[in-house]
Amino acid sequence: MPTVRLNREDCIGCSACAGICPSFWAMNNEDNKTDLKGAEKAQDGWFELEVEERDLECNRQAEDVCPVDVIKVIQ
Ligand code: F3S
Repeated sequence: MPTVRLNREDCIGCSACAGICPSFWAMNNEDNKTDLKGAEKAQDGWFELEVEERDLECNRQAEDVCPVDVIKVIQ
């Protein structure tokens, strides 16, 4: 299954991901970084979530719009 990954530590909180793909991304008011909803932290410290094919487009847009490239969509 395709996987979406987030290097949350390096997120600068620009919120573009949450704006373009709100069903998967939401800003966290506590630290002003984004949350990838339902994701779990992997051993390398990135958060990751398996998604359906139909959800790739929205997450690809989030990947494209992030100014610091902390979102990766892997197929
Ligand atoms: Fe952070 Fe990039 Fe989203 S900086 S808030 S992951 S667009």
